[in-house]
Amino acid sequence: MTQLGTFYGIGVGPGDPELLTVKAVRVLQEVDVVFAAGHERSGRSAALEIARPHLRPGCPVVTLPFRHTFEDVRSREVHRDHARRVVDELRRPAAAAFLTLGDPMTYSTFTYLLEAVRELEPRVPVEVVPGITSFAAAAAEARVPLVEGDQTLAVVSAARGTAAVERALEAADSLAILKPYRNTAEVCDLLEARGLGGKVVFASHCTRPGALVARGVCQARTHANGYMSLFLVRPGEDRTP
Ligand SMILES: C[S@@+](CC[C@H](N)C(=O)[O-])C[C@H]1O[C@@H](n2cnc3c(N)ncnc32)[C@H](O)[C@@H]1O
Repeated sequence: MTQLGTFYGIGVGPGDPELLTVKAVRVLQEVDVVFAAGHERSGRSAALEIARPHLRPGCPVVTLPFRHTFEDVRSREVHRDHARRVVDELRRPAAAAFLTLGDPMTYSTFTYLLEAVRELEPRVPVEVVPGITSFAAAAAEARVPLVEGDQTLAVVSAARGTAAVERALEAADSLAILKPYRNTAEVCDLLEARGLGGKVVFASHCTRPGALVARGVCQARTHANGYMSLFLVRPGEDRTP
């Protein structure tokens, strides 16, 4: 039976290369090949840029192209193609790492790719190295708690609009709203309509060059700048007299 290398999902954290775990750095020094999702046209990979200082000199790096549209990131066909590339390495047998922003199990391409790898090669040994999420980093930078006591936290995506945000505002004491990029104005309108406009934390490129972490939806309206942004909001706090 063919021996298989281990497939590692590595969380590289929110941006600062010092925010990888000791374990992530050790694994990156040991693997035979590193994979990362890259932009379809530019080939640019934010996760790779973050991890670059920790890669073993001469370690082969492969960027797997994604279009970064919601459909492409979830497309089974795209993942099957990329999984074939990964499985070829694992069958050598080589140990392979796939880099993801933040944490690999939180809104990450890794979970889709892992499913496709397991379909092709169910026996593959898998290890996941957790990472510091973008919203944990934003709370730390803003010096605001995400949750206290018995409060609840909802992590929601605004990639497809504000419906999930509206539901979470009713249900949770604190929200981390990720992927607002295309719908930033709508998220701002909703939060303002609920009287939360001044209490929101808006974080853009948190812990990365050009970072902005500031209070108020007006900051989001003025400074929203592409994919790397999120909101933290605590409606539970606002209900407290
Ligand atoms: C596909 S999700 C990846 C989430 C990631 N796995 C995590 O654990 O945070 C991409 C979204 O994460 C958020 N994000 C990731 N890094 C960020 C950063 N440095 N600053 C602000 N938001 C960030 C943005 O909302 C972005 O649209």
